[in-house]
Amino acid sequence: MMETAPFSEQEIQRLRSETRGTTGRIHFNNAGASLPPDVVVEAVVKYLNEEALHGGYEVEARYKEALENVYALIARLIGSGTDEVCVVENASTAWGIAFHGVDLHPGDVVITSEMEYVTNIIGFLNAREQHGIEVKVIPNDERGNFSLPALERTICPRTRLIAVTHIASTTGGMIPIAEIGQIARKHGVLYLVDACQTAGQVPIDVNEVGCDMLSATGRKFLRAPRGTGFLYVRKEVQDRLRLLFMDGHSIASISQEGFQARADARRFELYEKNRGVMLGLGAAIDYALQVGVGRIWRRVQELAGSMRRQLRKVGGVVVHDQGEQLCGIVTFSVNGMDATAVKSALAERRINVSVGNAHSTLYFMDKHHLTSVVRASVHYYNTEEEIGALCESVASLYQTV
Ligand SMILES: Cc1ncc(COP(=O)(O)O)c(C=O)c1O
Repeated sequence: MMETAPFSEQEIQRLRSETRGTTGRIHFNNAGASLPPDVVVEAVVKYLNEEALHGGYEVEARYKEALENVYALIARLIGSGTDEVCVVENASTAWGIAFHGVDLHPGDVVITSEMEYVTNIIGFLNAREQHGIEVKVIPNDERGNFSLPALERTICPRTRLIAVTHIASTTGGMIPIAEIGQIARKHGVLYLVDACQTAGQVPIDVNEVGCDMLSATGRKFLRAPRGTGFLYVRKEVQDRLRLLFMDGHSIASISQEGFQARADARRFELYEKNRGVMLGLGAAIDYALQVGVGRIWRRVQELAGSMRRQLRKVGGVVVHDQGEQLCGIVTFSVNGMDATAVKSALAERRINVSVGNAHSTLYFMDKHHLTSVVRASVHYYNTEEEIGALCESVASLYQTV
């Protein structure tokens, strides 16, 4: 049973005191990149210093176990085997390795949802052009929820892949990935989940989700350094994916006649990477597991719910998030003000928010005629006082429009 007990005020203060970034600013751009805990920063800096003093390969040998443990930590976070994950630089790379690894042929159908991220939409369009596939987008129903019956109706014998984004980039709604997984399994269709905004925010277990592949980043809700990400590929599916690029690390053996790929998911990654930030990723996952992702998720929902309620009371503000299950991403507009102007005005008051542009979640934004929205994304280290300060600032901005 996942621990979901609420945090005490003292715990939140302790967690904030372990994050130097919480002192100078109010950070509501966690969907862009969260503030890392100090231990994560220290792990990276220490490693880089050692590399400078002793040499990159020499330090790697010393940290062999700690680096190996990063795979085990990812596996613990998502409930997979250690041999089912690999470490890459970002979520787009992870997603691309999985998607472009699928052997697609003319007439094959890929099903997605209206919440899909831009990298993935580009991938679909590219595959349509190169392989003649068909892309079918399941629209959300009138209440903003993913339609499972529509998915069932859309699956046909030519459906090769279901690829969905659990949490979109520019709206607070979520897709029911475990229910979609049940349908994918029932029909024997490959299933790829973009969990970029999920990892570190929402508990995730790949076996409960029933996905074959899952991509994620470290820098968002996991609070890891930038330039970190990972890909999960179910053991039974690994041999079915084409390898897009390889180096000596991807293979188990080679002769002049041919090569044999490694027997684990690390065949999908390359040898050379920034091992300092990789250790930072491990430290961030360890920190999240110790805090408890179930507890994090509960607090994120409470804080985001509170932010939405308070923003709705501010004159001139429209909150755009739709659907029954909402996450820590809160999107809104201020009448008469451009989203970029809102972001800049808040930055002057030391409040970080971001702008969600139409192309990031193209299908959804086009459908709702949105060109951009203000995105304020909460994490568990944020507080009600910070939410109050944001809402007051937004109210005062509107009064000056
Ligand atoms: C839902 C979603 N998927 C994928 C990505 C791509 O992540 P990355 O920039 O790490 O490639 C993002 C980035 O914002 C995202 O929000």
